[in-house]
Amino acid sequence: MQIQPCGPLRGEITVPGDKSISHRAVMLGALANGTTHITGFLMGEDCLSTIDCFRKMGVEINITDDEVIVEGVGLHGLEAPSEALYTGNSGTTTRLLCGILAGQPFTVTMSGDPSIQKRPMGRVMKPLREMGASIEGKNDNFCPLTLFPSELHGIEYRLPVASAQLKSAILLAGLYAEGQTTVIEPAPSRDHTERMFRALGVEIETSGSTITLDPPEDLHAVDIAVPGDISSAAFFLVAGAIIPGSELTIKNVGVNPTRTGVLDVLRDMGADITESNFRDEAEPVCDLTVKYSKLHGVEIGGAIIPRLIDELPVIAVAAAFAEGETVIRDAQELKVKESNRIAAMVTELTKAGVDVEETDDGMIVHGGAKPHGASFETYKDHRIAMSLAVLGLAAEGASRIDKPEVVAISYPDFFNTLERLGD
Ligand code: S3P
Repeated sequence: MQIQPCGPLRGEITVPGDKSISHRAVMLGALANGTTHITGFLMGEDCLSTIDCFRKMGVEINITDDEVIVEGVGLHGLEAPSEALYTGNSGTTTRLLCGILAGQPFTVTMSGDPSIQKRPMGRVMKPLREMGASIEGKNDNFCPLTLFPSELHGIEYRLPVASAQLKSAILLAGLYAEGQTTVIEPAPSRDHTERMFRALGVEIETSGSTITLDPPEDLHAVDIAVPGDISSAAFFLVAGAIIPGSELTIKNVGVNPTRTGVLDVLRDMGADITESNFRDEAEPVCDLTVKYSKLHGVEIGGAIIPRLIDELPVIAVAAAFAEGETVIRDAQELKVKESNRIAAMVTELTKAGVDVEETDDGMIVHGGAKPHGASFETYKDHRIAMSLAVLGLAAEGASRIDKPEVVAISYPDFFNTLERLGD
């Protein structure tokens, strides 16, 4: 696909539903008593993988024009699937399902695409085994994973990485455990699981970095409105901030504080982003308006990293257009995402003439010289593809992007929205 540099981005857009919340809405809706109506659901490939897995376990899920309707089977109502579950490209589906499947009275195998087969699962297997789960994985760390029936008991577990997927897997297994389950986070990661648990009547307490869950009798279905995904909005926030003359409003974006690191960093870099129409529902939501401004380099590291982990590739693009040096550190987790996102961004930014160095836990971008267009590789990674598209829009001269269709994982309409804004 060709990407041409574009003029100012102006107008109003919406972005698709939050991926993390969409996954959880299907999972908890399936385990609840009663019917869950989900609006704003992300019809991306990852979330469709979650739907497919639950359908294979006997859950009726209907997709209409404006809703996903999940007929909950209750905590103990899942059925043994007749074949292995396929989780596609989705780390969230795979890891969160581990927690749920650990508590089931049947044996189940799960695997996904080549990228999923390279992603570490040992981090989830270890605490689940401490809870009594019986799990096997390739080389004790990778998919395919097989989970056997077992009795679970609560544990207190200090997470070695700030990972919401890991935290959620343990809490989901905690639904089936004897006694309390406690996780202690090294830094706050997205808390959508905890919020949704509370909405469904589960007793879960957060005190500082400690989260404790009491196993419930059952979950009560509630309707769920999924806000727009700030991780998808981030591509337009950066595009609006670096393309001269832009003024763009993104409506109905989820601004859960565990996800808004990208707003903090872009503002630190000098971006003009304002919030309006704030509503505090089960998840906080608002409209975001970004205006072009001159950016400057910043240091990004420490506890903010889990709050912007998925946005770092596009933040690296912002850094390329910012005056001065941007240092990204403490971001080793980027190496085990859908692709090695540090290596991918350093290689592709270099192709665009950006002066960037790879480090052990991030990168250093020396910004300011305008990047030029290039022929970019996406590494079959949706967020790399969209980050490079933003780079191409703001660069000098045309760019090419291989396999643009990979954006369907989280944002099927991404290129259509871009095209509409360019009109
Ligand atoms: C997610 C958590 C994050 C994030 C991923 C979605 C979730 O992963 O990168 O895109 O929905 O819990 P980790 O928890 O592994 O950091």
